[in-house]
Amino acid sequence: MPSASTFVQEKKSVVDDGKEEWRSYLVPEKLEVLRQLEPWVEDHVLPLLKTVEASWQPSDLLPDPAALGADGFHAACLELRAAAAGVPDELLVCLVANMVTEEALPTYPSVLNRLEVVRDATGADDTAWARWIRGWSAEENRHGDVLNRYMHLSGRFDMREVERTVQHLIRDGMSMHAPASPFHVFVYVAFQERATAIAHGNMARLVGARGAGDAALARICGTVASDEKRHEAAYTRLMGKLFEADPDAAVRAMAYMMRRRIDMPTAFINDGRHSGGDFYARFIAIAEKAGTYTLSDYRCILEHLLQQWGVEELNAGLSGDGRRAQDYLCALPHKIKRMEEKAHDRMIRTHKKPTLIPICWIFDRPITLLTEVPVPPQVLRRPRWCFSDGRSIMDLRSRLCVHGGGMDGAAGIHGVVVEGDHGVHGGGVELAVGIHGSVVEGIVGLVVQGGEVRGSRVFVAEEASSSGGGGVVFGEARSGCATTGDVSHRRKGDRTRERNL
Ligand SMILES: [Fe+2]
Ligand SMILES: [Fe+2]
Repeated sequence: MPSASTFVQEKKSVVDDGKEEWRSYLVPEKLEVLRQLEPWVEDHVLPLLKTVEASWQPSDLLPDPAALGADGFHAACLELRAAAAGVPDELLVCLVANMVTEEALPTYPSVLNRLEVVRDATGADDTAWARWIRGWSAEENRHGDVLNRYMHLSGRFDMREVERTVQHLIRDGMSMHAPASPFHVFVYVAFQERATAIAHGNMARLVGARGAGDAALARICGTVASDEKRHEAAYTRLMGKLFEADPDAAVRAMAYMMRRRIDMPTAFINDGRHSGGDFYARFIAIAEKAGTYTLSDYRCILEHLLQQWGVEELNAGLSGDGRRAQDYLCALPHKIKRMEEKAHDRMIRTHKKPTLIPICWIFDRPITLLTEVPVPPQVLRRPRWCFSDGRSIMDLRSRLCVHGGGMDGAAGIHGVVVEGDHGVHGGGVELAVGIHGSVVEGIVGLVVQGGEVRGSRVFVAEEASSSGGGGVVFGEARSGCATTGDVSHRRKGDRTRERNL
């Protein structure tokens, strides 16, 4: 499983040079689109809220003394504690992070109340927008409550530490790119509601009957997840309407937000002992390991939203910037997939050192995370035809990439771009092949028929191949190859620089 913490680490800092860009969304004609939308919000978004009468309440999902009486309440609490005892520490930590995210609710309506047109200016506005913000907040408020109470009753958490974390997070707030532009913020919230639904849904699955066996907790998380799905539907619908009304502005706003990455609202999470960034990165790594929210979840959400908003099909009304934004967005899932594969390959090629991370929320019991330790080159350079982790060369077949596309640690045939270490004496895949115009970077086993190599070793370069870097070592260059570096055998028509052996 690729590590999402890698994703965080690899995040290129995007200089916030887009201030002018998002401010252009605040001109009267753009805001008019939102004003015109209000009757549609009344008819199509507000109905996604439930009335108070039809809503679940935390007491419905937890032992309730009013319904059970004192003895019944006591017995139900013992039952809850017995089931909670089987939930592993990693999931407990993820549960705290989910709960803290919900408990930081005071921050989120304040984000919506910064949005032009949408905001609830008086706190009791009668616009559809304002009623949505208040209704949504009221529904969200139950999420932190129910999780908090479960945690308190379970006895498995150091609640004072958890409460301190909540206070820290609300004090620290969250950063929102393009803070006053509804186009941008709705992209974020649609993405984030789906992410939250997935995180709670995964938690329900992992702690439930087929997992840790805590059915009450699974029910709580599943119930919260279904609320999040309704909220996701509302914001996705809303953003979809903006894509219809102004596709150019919508697609540029989406690209703007995705370039800066959709971080969870808990990016500033901090237990008071670590810097916010460190703590968040650790939590991301724990969530990835536990399976509650992973890098591939992130990619799937993006793919889903691209499909929902028909980004690939957008055509009419796009400016040059709009088209560039569309191209960027459509290529992004593939880019993230490659990051997942790279992280996976790195896992294969590196030693792992278990690191114990004490977590104050669970009484400083440690969570074990595997941190990467680079493998010394001599360990990797085993002259065997197999992967460095011992898998058979036959596994290479599954990584074979034919006719287009890009792949790390695999063979490239027919115009494929291959990056990474390839070839005998390299890490990961041993003996990779680039054929028919492939561009291969790294250590390469064989390049034939017009392939181009940018790396250190080529075993056989054949028929007009070219290589830069170390050239051909311990191998042959045949028929019109151009190489720089050492060449062990050179045949007629080869052009080489440096040394011919
Ligand atoms: Fe929520
Ligand atoms: Fe939500």
